[in-house]
Amino acid sequence: MATTRAVVPVAGLGTRLLPATKSQPKEMLPVGRKPVVQYVVEEIQQAGLTSLLFITGRSKTAIENHFDRDAELRRALENERKSGLLAALAYEDANLEFFYTRQSEQLGLGHAISLAEGYVQGEPFVIALGDSIIESAGAPSVLRRLVDAFETAGAAAAIAFEEVAADDVVHYGIADPGEALAGGDAFRIRGLIEKPSTAEAPSRLAIAGRYVVGPCIFDALRRTKPGKGGEIQLTDALRLLLDDGQPVIGLRMRPGERRHDIGNFESYFRSFLHFALADPEHGEALREALAQESRRPPRRGHHRSTMRAVPRDTLTT
Ligand code: G1P
Repeated sequence: MATTRAVVPVAGLGTRLLPATKSQPKEMLPVGRKPVVQYVVEEIQQAGLTSLLFITGRSKTAIENHFDRDAELRRALENERKSGLLAALAYEDANLEFFYTRQSEQLGLGHAISLAEGYVQGEPFVIALGDSIIESAGAPSVLRRLVDAFETAGAAAAIAFEEVAADDVVHYGIADPGEALAGGDAFRIRGLIEKPSTAEAPSRLAIAGRYVVGPCIFDALRRTKPGKGGEIQLTDALRLLLDDGQPVIGLRMRPGERRHDIGNFESYFRSFLHFALADPEHGEALREALAQESRRPPRRGHHRSTMRAVPRDTLTT
């Protein structure tokens, strides 16, 4: 049966991005011209899905407003004949049905996903983390290939992976990869571990925030005990599926495909720069401005990022 639904968790507090996220969701931070979450929604729509559930939280109403068709704003732009600006609102006409539910307590990503049980009605669904942009290299996209691999393999779950530097495994769910599956970038997963130490990590293949799962995930989530950070982890529920002998597969992202994370300032700044430099109207001028800036001596009081000194998994996202 075709996969048509996506679940997008956006309930995290975004404390690593304070003060920018004090009164707005991190998923609404702009990356180039669009808020992060719009990239995620467009990715879901382009993969051919038709329905989407946001798992939101308090102070996330801006997301709901962003995807609501604003008839008043449209009328004002039409009256002023601002067709260029109207075109910027074309995303409102996406062929996607939106649903919202709230995670009232921050009990972890796995807990957030468990709230989607009524919505998915016993069917497989996509999980796309709302704070990561996946840049595909042409068509079909990473997400489309992931859905296809899940359906072809008759898997219980399929997960997209990106290879990360050895030092960075501590920030991600990491796979223990098994044999390759015929005809593609897919492989069997033997094990999964959430945010391992560099010594524990079985590989450098990091969960890239895109999954397709069957409804059996809900039973696994009910059996999942609090893990890393005292939270119910989706990675741990997926490992329970493996323990049950269910087929769980991975899909490697291809060269040129990238995940842009906005979970902390260093990666947010980089993501913004990447998309702003690609802007057809302003990219070129920005490149020149950047070259000029980099010739200036650093301003006093400015220092290199201390990002790596922060133990990420001790902070709430
Ligand atoms: C979550 C998942 C982790 C995954 C990561 C990708 O972690 O738990 O397995 O690798 O997203 O972004 P978080 O970044 O929410 O701590």
